Amino acid sequence: MTKPLLRALAGERLPVPPAWMMRQAGRYLPEYRATREQAGDFLSLCYNPDLATEVTLQPIRRYAFDAAILFADILLVPQALGADLWFVTGEGPRLSTITSADDLARLGGKDDIHDTLAPVYGTVSNLASALPENVALIGFAGAPWTVATYMIAGRGTPDQGPAHALKEEDRGTFEALIDLLTDATVEYLDRQVQAGAEVVKIFDSWAGSLTGDDFAHYAVAPARRITSELKTRHPGLPVIAFPRGAGEKYEGLHAEIGADCIALDDGVMAEWAAAHVQTGGCVQGNLASRHMVSGGPDMDAEIRRIRDAFSNGPHIFNLGHGITPDADPDNVARMLDVLREDATVGAG
Ligand code: CP3
Repeated sequence: MTKPLLRALAGERLPVPPAWMMRQAGRYLPEYRATREQAGDFLSLCYNPDLATEVTLQPIRRYAFDAAILFADILLVPQALGADLWFVTGEGPRLSTITSADDLARLGGKDDIHDTLAPVYGTVSNLASALPENVALIGFAGAPWTVATYMIAGRGTPDQGPAHALKEEDRGTFEALIDLLTDATVEYLDRQVQAGAEVVKIFDSWAGSLTGDDFAHYAVAPARRITSELKTRHPGLPVIAFPRGAGEKYEGLHAEIGADCIALDDGVMAEWAAAHVQTGGCVQGNLASRHMVSGGPDMDAEIRRIRDAFSNGPHIFNLGHGITPDADPDNVARMLDVLREDATVGAG
C-alpha cells in the first residue's frame, strides 16, 4: 500500500500530510464551467460517465492532489429512490417533499436504486483505471440525516427546521426514512467499492444541528451501521466520516462510528482537535474555505498552523468545507506548495 492517502488512513504519520479538497472539481475552475456547459445542466453532468470522469480528473491534472473524489451529488440517492430532483440556478436543489407515511410509501426500496445510479458506477470504474498510481479514489454518499433534511423540506434550509419538525411530530415516519436511507446508502457505497472506489466518505453536512440524544441516534448510529456493513463486505475498506459542526462531540467519534478518519470542519481549532480527536485516529481538515478566496500571508500562516498542530499523528490536509466558486485557482497551487515545501525544509 503505497498511496499516501491510504497510508494516512491506515494510521501512519507522514512527514508531509496527503492533501485534497472538498469540491475540488467545481465552479472555481474554468475548465469545469466549460464541461458543465457542454453537459447542459448539473444533473446531466452527474449522470454522464465520460463528462463526470473528465471533471473529476481536471483538478488532478492541474494540481498534485493525493486523492480524487468521484463527481456526483449526495441528492442522487433520493432521486434513485423516486423523489423528483432538480437544481434551480443560483438557488440550489429542489425535491418533491416527504412529510408523511404516504409520501414515504411511494419511494422505492434499497435495491431499486441501481438502474438510476448505474452511470455513477460507470464513472467510478472509468476513474479507477484513469487515475495516476499515487492518487487514491474516494467514493461518497450523504449521511442519512443530511439527505433526509433535503427530502423532508424539498430544499436546503438554514436550520433544518422541517426535518426537526417531522422528527418531533411523526417520529415513526422520520425514523423509517432514516432507516431506508441507511440501507440504500450501504448498497450505493458497496457498488462504488465494487467499481473501484478505494475509500468512502460519508458527508453529514447538517450533523451540527442535532442536539442531545439526537446526535447519537441520527448522526452516529446510521454512520456506524453504514461503516460496519461496508467493512463486513469489504474488509479493510477505509471510511471517512464528516459530521460537520459536531464541535466538542467530535471527541470519541472514531470509536463510536468505527471510522478510520474523522473529517473536521473549521469550527474546531486544530490544536484542540489534535489533543481530543486525533488521539483516536486519522483526522482530515480543516482550513477555512475563505482562504482560497483571499490567499496571501494569512492563508500561508493558517496552512502552517494546521499542518504543525496535526504533525504528531495521522492527518489528511483538506478544507473545513467545500471550496467556493469565487476561489482563486492560484491559491490552491500555493496551498500545496506551502504545505509541502515548508514541511520538507522542517524535516531536513
Ligand atoms: O467534493 C466534490 O468535488 C465531489 C462532488 C460533490 C458535489 N456535491 C458536487 C456538486 C460532493 C461530495 C457533493 C456533496 C454535497 N452535495 C453535499 C455535502 C457536502 C456539503 O457541501 O455540505 C451537499 C449538502 C450537496 C447538495 C448540493 N449539491 C447543494 C446544496 C448544491 C447547491 C449549492 C451549490 O454549491 O451550488 C449542490 C450542487 C453541487 N454539487 C455543485 C457541485 C460541483 C455545484 C453545481 C453546479 O455546477 O452548479
